[in-house]
Amino acid sequence: MERKWWHGKTAYQIYPKSFKDSNGDGIGDLRGVIEKLDYLKELGIGIVWLSPIYQSPLADQGYDISDYYRIDPRFGDMNDMDELIREAKKRDIGIVMDLVVNHCSDEHEWFRKACENPDGKYGKYFYIQDWHEGEKLPCNWRSYFGGPVWSKLPGHEDKIYLHVFHKKQPDLNWENPEVRREIYSMINWWLEKGLAGFRIDAIINIKKALPFHDYPADRDDGLCDIDNMLEEARGVTDFLDEMARECFDKYNAFTAGEVFNEKESELPRFIGENGCFSTMFDFNEAILGQDKKGWYAHKKITPDEYKKACFESQKKTENVGFLCNIIENHDEPRGVSRYLPEGVLDGPYAIQAKKLLGGLNFMLRGLPFLYQGQEIGMENTRCESINQIDDISARDQYQVALNAGLSPEEAIKIINLYSRDNARTPFQWDDNLNAGFTSGTPWLPVNKNYKNINLKAERDDPDSVWNFYRDLIQLRKNPKYQETIVYGKTEPYLINQKNLMAYFRRGLNQNQDGAKQDILILGNFQDQEQDIILPGAIIQNILLNNYHDYHIKNGVLHAKPWQFMILELI
Ligand code: GLC
Ligand code: CA
Repeated sequence: MERKWWHGKTAYQIYPKSFKDSNGDGIGDLRGVIEKLDYLKELGIGIVWLSPIYQSPLADQGYDISDYYRIDPRFGDMNDMDELIREAKKRDIGIVMDLVVNHCSDEHEWFRKACENPDGKYGKYFYIQDWHEGEKLPCNWRSYFGGPVWSKLPGHEDKIYLHVFHKKQPDLNWENPEVRREIYSMINWWLEKGLAGFRIDAIINIKKALPFHDYPADRDDGLCDIDNMLEEARGVTDFLDEMARECFDKYNAFTAGEVFNEKESELPRFIGENGCFSTMFDFNEAILGQDKKGWYAHKKITPDEYKKACFESQKKTENVGFLCNIIENHDEPRGVSRYLPEGVLDGPYAIQAKKLLGGLNFMLRGLPFLYQGQEIGMENTRCESINQIDDISARDQYQVALNAGLSPEEAIKIINLYSRDNARTPFQWDDNLNAGFTSGTPWLPVNKNYKNINLKAERDDPDSVWNFYRDLIQLRKNPKYQETIVYGKTEPYLINQKNLMAYFRRGLNQNQDGAKQDILILGNFQDQEQDIILPGAIIQNILLNNYHDYHIKNGVLHAKPWQFMILELI
């Protein structure tokens, strides 16, 4: 496998609005990020992905861009951005921006001009169709945020436009070469500034199955999931290859695609040697337990299901490329609230369990990608009523739950489990007012647990979740183990033992002329103790342990509840 500059790094996602507010308006900003670069450096981060900071009405928190060449004044200005790129580089951190080009904002100049003259040049930048009241829509796809993907074109009674997300996010027409050219020159303009690359938003949606047509309805609303269309659409990689050729390849840029539901056979095209992305996120665990009917029908997954999903992804990619390993992001609940069984976070082993989940995920083959706050063990937040919810997706899902017959109390419980606000509450820096995030009123309330869970307290505590993540990151950088941790093969161990997730990473020891090196990662994924038979090998080193001690006798590890260990074997 060809070595790439980013393979050995640890990446970190910043959701700027909630990271650090520098001027007291309650909204995180670029100066706040600059302020915290030393922190990221201290943690050991090598790549930072910034969720969108472009000019935007923030209808979908910046995933609705009204000017790709400007920074939204709430986040700062272009000088701040240039400074951030420069200062990050000094610390050996590459800045990755969010590339949101399936759609723009309805307040983007292109869309405004399209509304002024749908038959002109800009009308062809979007999917605009004739339509008269009472007529059937061109297709019955359900938008990701609920309702049909078609809305009336502002100012026109007889025209509609397509938006697979919110109606304030009109889809760009990628079939139009002019649109693609505009996008590529924008990308190159940014890369020229010294960006390390892009995370590429919702990109699979750029290829539509045309002409528009219906699929069987799957809910009472008569609409169908967009997956039907994505399944049928062909040729997205033609666009992606072109984009890589015209933009990323020239800069040796890093790209991480947001792709759901890919087929195994497609992986080489996406992330193989000549794939169109450097990497993609592993959503295999995130999509498990999901139900097309809506959040209210989702099921919580068990430790064994989690393990199985991780190993599936490892297997699929072992000879192909790298995925980004995540337990959460800005669209998902907090990983510790989602993947740890109910009650654990309120129990005596919360810290051990958080470390176990983090460690098991981090040590998989691929690029570890932390989400802000994960490193201090941030948890889901709790809302009492739908009025406290900001996330547009959660608002839609609340309605979906009510329509399915749930009471408002039941529906809000579901929202608390899955709302995207869970990951978007402000970063908990310390135990001062608003967790040190802002001196003003935070745009989204701080999680009430910030007195206990915050960076300041954890930094000072050698047994904290934070220090554990720092150790993991340092281990990945350690020249003695890096080759194995980054490139070594993953081999599941005792795969059928219940509530145990264990695997080897088998690689080479660079320090010893490429001698074989075996690392064993073990996690007792439960509240009870568990005996784990160790492979018949000598333990050379304990590289990490979430307890101060361990108990091994006659080749058996008597693991404590939630015990997690990394062992070097010979
Ligand atoms: C991606 C983003 C999400 C956004 C959507 C539309 O899934 O991660 O936050 O709402 O795309 O851009
Ligand atoms: Ca601010």
